[in-house]
Amino acid sequence: MNTQAITQNPANIEVRRMDFGFDGLQEQDWFRGNPILSAFMAVLSGTFPPGEQMFIQSVRYFKDRITDPDLQESVRLFTQQEAHHTHQHKQANLRLEALGWRALEIEKRVEQAIRLLNRKRSPEGQLAMTVCLEHLTAIVAEFVLTHPEHFEGMQPSVRNMLVWHAIEEIEHKSVAFDVYMQVCGDRKALRRMMNRMAVMFPLLTTLRTFYLLIRARRLPRWKHLREARQMLTAENGMLTCLKQPLKDFYHEDFHPDDHDNRGLVETWKAEIEQYRLG
Ligand SMILES: [Fe+2]
Ligand SMILES: [Fe+2]
Repeated sequence: MNTQAITQNPANIEVRRMDFGFDGLQEQDWFRGNPILSAFMAVLSGTFPPGEQMFIQSVRYFKDRITDPDLQESVRLFTQQEAHHTHQHKQANLRLEALGWRALEIEKRVEQAIRLLNRKRSPEGQLAMTVCLEHLTAIVAEFVLTHPEHFEGMQPSVRNMLVWHAIEEIEHKSVAFDVYMQVCGDRKALRRMMNRMAVMFPLLTTLRTFYLLIRARRLPRWKHLREARQMLTAENGMLTCLKQPLKDFYHEDFHPDDHDNRGLVETWKAEIEQYRLG
């Protein structure tokens, strides 16, 4: 098993300022004409800004206790990447809201939920939550880049934002973990937190997807349901593909870099270069 830090090397984290411009996002069912898939992705986009702010805060809280200069630099780059993600998702959410998907309401509700969850949680507990959610994000990112067939028919600006976000999530996937191991290192607490997050995150995302469909007064057809189920549970579906990397998190000596997917990132970088500002 590879225990050498890879993404902790700041040279592997690149901050890209992007402008996807979401003017082309005109159809309400912008993801393959399927309201369920469109609402599902709108929920994810609404979840990112408050989620990423929480990630940034929980990691930066410990920045003075990080002694390794490489890790300090990685934290700085991680923060910048997440801040840019938030900015682009907020732009997308404004367009989604205009199309009838209440992405701004999702932003607000997620922010409230995080505040409530963290009310009595220690800074170490908040960092543990970030580590777990960063692992879930990284394995979803790997799924996105490994199975692009599922994202065909998605409005191009959102698809390219998704690819960019996935690339950068993979690049910084071990930063929060390395900070946690340096300042706390309680793996049992991490596994207990993952037990909760692995249930709560998909459950809340599903409930919020139904909520958006109801608020948008969209009644999906059977074929839309079949397509959504296929995307989740087929042999190459999201839930099927996430099972093993989720289990890996529970190994005694797990490290996010055990699974080296830098090659995958290299393959996709060219796709998003055209949107780059800096
Ligand atoms: Fe992000
Ligand atoms: Fe992240």
